[in-house]
Parts: sequence; structure tokens; C-alpha cells
Amino acid sequence: MTETATTSDVKADTVLRLEDVVVERGGRQVVRGVSIDVTPGEVTALLGPNGAGKSSLVLAVGGVLRPARGSISLGSDDLTGRRPERIRQAGVAVVPEGRRLLPLLTVRENLGVACYSLTRQEAKTGMSSALELFPELQKRLDVAGRLLSGGEQQMLVLAQALVSQPKFIFIDELSLGLAPVVVQRLLPTLREVAERGVGILLIEQFATVALGVANRAYIMEGGRIQFSGLTSELKKDPSLLHSAYLLRGSVGANGGAAGQSAPAAG
Ligand SMILES: Nc1ncnc2c1ncn2[C@@H]1O[C@H](COP(=O)(O)OP(=O)(O)OP(=O)(O)O)[C@@H](O)[C@H]1O
Ligand SMILES: [Mg+2]
Repeated sequence: MTETATTSDVKADTVLRLEDVVVERGGRQVVRGVSIDVTPGEVTALLGPNGAGKSSLVLAVGGVLRPARGSISLGSDDLTGRRPERIRQAGVAVVPEGRRLLPLLTVRENLGVACYSLTRQEAKTGMSSALELFPELQKRLDVAGRLLSGGEQQMLVLAQALVSQPKFIFIDELSLGLAPVVVQRLLPTLREVAERGVGILLIEQFATVALGVANRAYIMEGGRIQFSGLTSELKKDPSLLHSAYLLRGSVGANGGAAGQSAPAAG
């Protein structure tokens, strides 16, 4: 295992830290002692094949599943086993797999739902900052969720997570089912969000998308972290990705999404 990623230059009290997290589902451990740091201002990738336990870990961070062991903390704030609402209040937003939005409500109404715990002023600021990142949604405010393209739906769930102006955002399978051109539209926006100081954990089954945008990466397999380090190391040594079945098609040398062959649904 290579360990060169460092968070020592970032104040420890601002890092979202998962330590030795164990999650059980259906009576067996599906996350088996995972430690991950998510640093403000950075995109961190969590890669892993089908069934690795990525989504289970995300659900534990979001307060949907209670870890059987280990801790999730933001500085001195212990978030382990807290309720989803409490975790959101701490500034941790989770975009779960599957782009769940309310299909009969309009874009504006879906964003309004995401603002329910905010003051009127917070909602106003959060909404305009989210729409500034996704001007496409501005034009679609009165359109029902179900009529949006796959790319617009992904923008809407991201915007819903961003309205509360979180410090951290976990995004489970950003690229799933989206055409490469749509994914390429979203990546610079993620970088922009990170540059504003937000810590992003980008969870992907295939490496091509995440390596184009992330500074650091973790590879998870069978519920455990098998690699953690800088994405530059993974780009230099793609055998690490091949051995974990994380490459699909051919990966460009720059780690862009050229080899991404997800079905076009954008
Ligand atoms: N509701 C559930 N009850 C019991 N076991 C589950 C449940 N959901 C998932 N699992 C199991 O937990 C393990 C980890 O699944 P998880 O969905 O966390 O993996 P993943 O890395 O997100 O995979 P994918 O890339 O397919 O999204 C798998 O073996 C899966 O079968
Ligand atoms: Mg998953």
C-alpha cells in the first residue's frame, strides 16, 4: 500500500475523518475498518468495484446506517451514529446513489424542499449560489423533475446538496448513466466548489472520471482500503487500477473521461 497523501498541511480540526469504520448489513461486515480523510478545498476520490462497500460507507457517513465500530468526526465534533439531520447541520451533505428527486415537483420546488431547515435568508443565498454553479437549471426552474435530462437531474441533486452551503459533500456515482460530454460539463463545477473551500468525496466505480478531477484517491475492495495516495501515482501506475477492475475501455494518459463508456442518457 502506498501512503503519500498527506493532510498535515491542513488544520486537523477542519478535516472530515473516518477512522476504522465498520458497517454491517444483512448480518455481515460490508465495510471492514475503513479510514479516510476528506480535506477542505480538495476533491478526494473513493474508487472501488461493484459491491466494494462504497455506498454502505456513504450511508454511514450520512447517518442512514449506524457504524458497528469506528468513528466519523469533524475536528472535535463526533458525528458517529448521529441522525441525518444532525450530520447535515454539521455541514456534511450526502448525494446518494440514484439521483433521487421529487419527479412531479418542479426544479424550483425540489430546491425549495432542500431548503426546509434553512432560514429564509440562508435559503435565498444558498439557492442563488447553487444556480450560479448550474445556470442550466435557472432556465428550467418551472419544469418538473421527471422531464429533466439525466445531466439536468444530476445538476439538480447536486444543487440540492449545495443549497445548505455545506463544508463537505459526498457524491455517490456522479457519472453513472451519463454521457461523457455531460460528465465533462460537471467536473469543472466540482473543482470550482472545491476551490471555494468545500471538501468533496467523489465515489466512482470506474477511475477515469475521478482521476481527471481528484487530488487524492482511495481504492476500496471487499470492504477494505487497498490503496491510498495521490492520483498522480495512480496515473503513473495504471496496474493498480487494472488489478481492481477500475478501468473500463481505454483510459487517456491524462486520466480524462475519454475511455468512459457509460450509456448515453444525458
Ligand atoms: N440492503 C442491503 N442488505 C444487505 N446487504 C446489502 C444491502 N445493500 C448492499 N448490500 C451488500 O453490501 C455489500 C456492499 O454494497 P455497496 O452497495 O455498499 O457497494 P458499492 O461499492 O456501493 O457497489 P456499487 O459500485 O455496485 O454501487 C454488497 O455485498 C451488497 O450486496
Ligand atoms: Mg454503490
